[in-house]
Amino acid sequence: MEIIIRPDAESAAKLVAAIVAKTVRENPQAVLGLATGQTMIPVYADLAARHAAEGLSFAEVTTFNLDEFVGCNRGTAYSFAHFMEEHLIRHIDADPERCFIPDGCAEDLRAECEAYEEAIRDSGGIDLQLLGLGLEGHIGFNEPLSAFGSRTRVKSLFPKTSEASRGFFPAGMAVPGRGITVGIETIMEARRIVMLVTGARKAEMLARAVEGPLAAIVPASALQLHPSCQIVADEAAARELKHTEYYRHVFETEPEWEEFR
Ligand code: GLP
Repeated sequence: MEIIIRPDAESAAKLVAAIVAKTVRENPQAVLGLATGQTMIPVYADLAARHAAEGLSFAEVTTFNLDEFVGCNRGTAYSFAHFMEEHLIRHIDADPERCFIPDGCAEDLRAECEAYEEAIRDSGGIDLQLLGLGLEGHIGFNEPLSAFGSRTRVKSLFPKTSEASRGFFPAGMAVPGRGITVGIETIMEARRIVMLVTGARKAEMLARAVEGPLAAIVPASALQLHPSCQIVADEAAARELKHTEYYRHVFETEPEWEEFR
């Protein structure tokens, strides 16, 4: 695991977008795992800008989103599918047929979860998985105590998780209490994982996830076991980390980061 600390949220997001852009340039048929949430908005804005300015093409890319609220799908204005459409898909040349998001309105949710796992397998697996960090240390909707061996399934959400999405829903409407999420094991099968964490309110959880013990109560701590995982944080989110001097040294001296500095 490597921790990269950038001065602010904007430069952290730009670095993540640069990693995605490089992945897609090197492999136009890359399979990307995508996340929703406020943290990702500037990443998608940067990718859309690269598409417009540099012609970065997503035409052959396949994408799999991490999660969706139960009761929501592409037709729902406040779904994660809608979020992706608004913030990324309609601004780039991706083929909507290859942009997968779990269908939270599926009649048989269990079958939907199995089909989602199969679609990921059929695509050849995820090359680059983007993650945000939830306030409870969750990744996707893998809430605290999610098994490290979990696969795509329906999870009941922590009230704090539902509340964090309040802004996406119309005033007065209850945020759904359940979501479909890919599992922690599904996430860990990605060939590379990049997690973006910004803002002081994530600082304590980030420190627990990367410098604390492996614990199901902090689902993101599972990432410590991944052989190719980078965490990009801004100064505010990094402020509870103990070994920042070392993390900065690695970023400043490792040749693989030269083009990103
Ligand atoms: C939600 C989503 C996650 C997201 C996390 C962080 O729980 N299911 O995919 O990464 O929240 O969201 P934000 O970036 O808005 O803080």
